[in-house]
Amino acid sequence: TGMFTYDPGFLSTSACQSAITYIDGDKGELLYRGYPIEQLATNCDYLDTCFLLLKGDLPSATESADFHKLVAQHTMVNEQMQFFLRGFRRDAHPMAILTGLVGGMSAFYHDSTDINNPEHREIAAIRLIAKMPTLVAMAYKYKVGQPYMYPQNNLSYAGNFMRMMFGTPCEEYVVNPVIERALDRIFILHADHEQNASTSTVRLCASSGTNPFAAISAGVACLWGPAHGGANEACLNMLETIQAQGGVAKVGEFMEQVKDKSSGVKLMGFGHRVYKNYDPRAKLMQETCDEVLKELGLENDPLFKLAKALEKIALEDDYFVSRKLYPNVDFYSGIVQRAIGIPVNLFTGVFALARTVGWIAQLNEMIGDPEYKIGRPRQLFTGSERRDVKPR
Ligand code: CMC
Repeated sequence: TGMFTYDPGFLSTSACQSAITYIDGDKGELLYRGYPIEQLATNCDYLDTCFLLLKGDLPSATESADFHKLVAQHTMVNEQMQFFLRGFRRDAHPMAILTGLVGGMSAFYHDSTDINNPEHREIAAIRLIAKMPTLVAMAYKYKVGQPYMYPQNNLSYAGNFMRMMFGTPCEEYVVNPVIERALDRIFILHADHEQNASTSTVRLCASSGTNPFAAISAGVACLWGPAHGGANEACLNMLETIQAQGGVAKVGEFMEQVKDKSSGVKLMGFGHRVYKNYDPRAKLMQETCDEVLKELGLENDPLFKLAKALEKIALEDDYFVSRKLYPNVDFYSGIVQRAIGIPVNLFTGVFALARTVGWIAQLNEMIGDPEYKIGRPRQLFTGSERRDVKPR
């Protein structure tokens, strides 16, 4: 038993070498390929950020135009996917549907399923990035009973997603540029985050040599959980519950519950395994939140006020200060998404859409690493010693 390090939750184990994303948790710094997230969120769009994560450098003007065009060419999904989708109950959770649809893509695109073939991986990457918005929007339209909207490729990546979500065939959909930019920024902020649970899941899954779509669907499944990508949904549910109980006036009472460990209540959207300072994404998300609420005339949104009140208390309260618990990206992203009109149970789907590029970049990096091996953790066995089955 002494041969292996015991490290539950991987608190002190590096499972890989990576050159993609760097986080300085104490400083609250996040870099994609060396570029600070603040600069990317201000000066680049999501697809340029995808190019950066996948290829290592920001695209030149020509490369950027080519990449945008290439992704646009792959936004449609095989028409048969609609029938697959129809097999789900209408009240299925969109993350259940998305896990299924993304995994199901391996059955449709046979020319991009060999993970060891770089060309297959390249085309799988483009397909996944291009088709995720279509799939997320289809899952939504199925739920609300409206016709699916085919992608319209003269729109931007975010604009196209908005139209597929909120447009109908009855009238022309006009993209609001403030919301479009906000959504694009949400995508950038969620694009990668080094070896988090879902990314590690994708790496482990892909290490067996399975096909890329299957590996990404494992990432979607992992992201669903409330301790990970599901935190934005859990955070909004928390805010709505407090609001129903009396809103800002009840914040103190709620915080007492959080601090009483026996209650099992957590302040969702707070705390992070790596950030022991303000999550830089949370700052940007708060700015975006301000912009979106202003644009939509929702400055007095009670949930936003509630979130700010919770944050204020938490940043001063010894329980949170001593444990270095700060808002993470999910604290404000739910409020923005809700204001845009995205239903609460689709928040994590939007996160999955945005994180897909990170999963693929990490998968590619792993497969391209000559030292890569199938992931195979060991264990400390705590069960019964050898014993014999008695004759019965
Ligand atoms: N509310 C109240 N107490 C908390 C919270 C919270 N949100 N987060 C951590 N703590 C406490 C925890 O109980 C522990 O206390 P003690 O030292 O007395 O036992 C201490 O802070 C350290 O927490 P931990 O659970 O050991 O830390 P971890 O690194 O294992 O967990 C986390 C990190 C993100 C899972 C956790 O902070 C959490 O559950 N937060 C709420 C869910 C959330 O917002 N998740 C999104 C994370 S960022 C985006 C993403 O990953 O998708």
